[in-house]
Amino acid sequence: MKIEIPRYIEVFGAAQINEVQRVYELDSGVTSEVPAENVGTVRDIGKDVMNDIEQRMAIVVSTKNEKLRLLDGVMSGIPHDCLIIVVSNSTRKPIDRYKNEMELVKQFNKFVQRKVIMIHQRDPGLAKALREVGYTDILQGRYVRNGKGEGALVGLVLAKLAKKDYVGFVDADNFIPGAVHEYVKNFNSGFSMASSPYSMVRISWLYKPTVIETGFYFSRWGRINEYTNKYLNRLISSHSGFGTEIIKTGNSGEYAMSMKLAELLAFSSGSSVDPYTMLNLLEAFGPSNPINNKEVREKGVQIYQIETRNPHIHVDKGDEHLANMLLSSIGIIYHSRICSDALRKVMIDELIASGLIKKGVTPPNPPTMRPTKNLNFKTLQEFLEINAKTLVTMGEASTQNQAPS
Ligand code: GDP
Ligand code: CO
Repeated sequence: MKIEIPRYIEVFGAAQINEVQRVYELDSGVTSEVPAENVGTVRDIGKDVMNDIEQRMAIVVSTKNEKLRLLDGVMSGIPHDCLIIVVSNSTRKPIDRYKNEMELVKQFNKFVQRKVIMIHQRDPGLAKALREVGYTDILQGRYVRNGKGEGALVGLVLAKLAKKDYVGFVDADNFIPGAVHEYVKNFNSGFSMASSPYSMVRISWLYKPTVIETGFYFSRWGRINEYTNKYLNRLISSHSGFGTEIIKTGNSGEYAMSMKLAELLAFSSGSSVDPYTMLNLLEAFGPSNPINNKEVREKGVQIYQIETRNPHIHVDKGDEHLANMLLSSIGIIYHSRICSDALRKVMIDELIASGLIKKGVTPPNPPTMRPTKNLNFKTLQEFLEINAKTLVTMGEASTQNQAPS
């Protein structure tokens, strides 16, 4: 992949946020070479480098009642050497959609023979294993809570058990397998540029139309993203004293992290997880927080935002879904401990003025789940293997390898 070098970097405590980068060439050949006159402007990431990262990467596919054909397409787009982890929260009655998903994945794997792990989010055995290691943050009664953020966290835990160095997240409702393929390549190119072991790559879409019966519909998603980005940027400027527009991927649902960073971050419930992976990074590594980890202090945390060439076309879930997404995204920022009262007031006034929330309504405060770094993964693995009846591993993807310490 041939990609622009970021011209501008915003520094916020230990976090280094790179400006959005444009892709020049999706495939730039076998080896990494840049002609001398372009050295300062372009980065060339050859297939050798890409492939090395793919072998060390798990891609978590979150799905809830998506069409099997879409899930199949998404899996087909993920480069072969990545481990696929499907975390499903699909309904099991009256039709057992998870069973259908398992059959689809097995059938898929008969032809491609790769490493796949899948699990159902509401498997009581999964909840039992997490309770055993004290991770009640994610639980509600006998089960893991519903929500995309909870599913992502389950995927992260499985990626850690499979000893992966990188973990990426993609949605299952994507109509374009080639776009999914590109996201993984974008992730890889970000990681290959990072000099710190703590790095995150977020996908920036040029446009995100949804498919409806009569054609494409340019949904209000753009508006949600506009607000989320605006408020995340204001958070930064309220600490730095300088206005900024650096964050362009606040609501991106596709992002990847080095495992070393992922296990230091908290996750949040439902769709607020998408902005929260960015927000929590600002909370944890920003200027107002003492950073205990020496390596993080010295090397910093690097964030890349990469603009895709493919459009992001996914299932239209309707206006109510978008309204909930907006509220939970705004809510997670509004309730952040690094959000000032002045910014809270601005947020509420603007949202009321634009008709997005009603007067007197406080945005929701989605639950968060603490970082997973210090969980006892050995015990978690033992309990998972005994209790999680929906856990399926294919290829050499077994979580039965020795657990990471
Ligand atoms: P949007 O694309 O951000 O508007 O939100 P979607 O509703 O499309 O959700 C993103 C992805 O997460 C889709 O692939 C959903 O099927 C999936 N998803 C939604 N809720 C859950 C959940 O509770 N658990 C899991 N595992 N996945 C979910
Ligand atoms: Co979607």
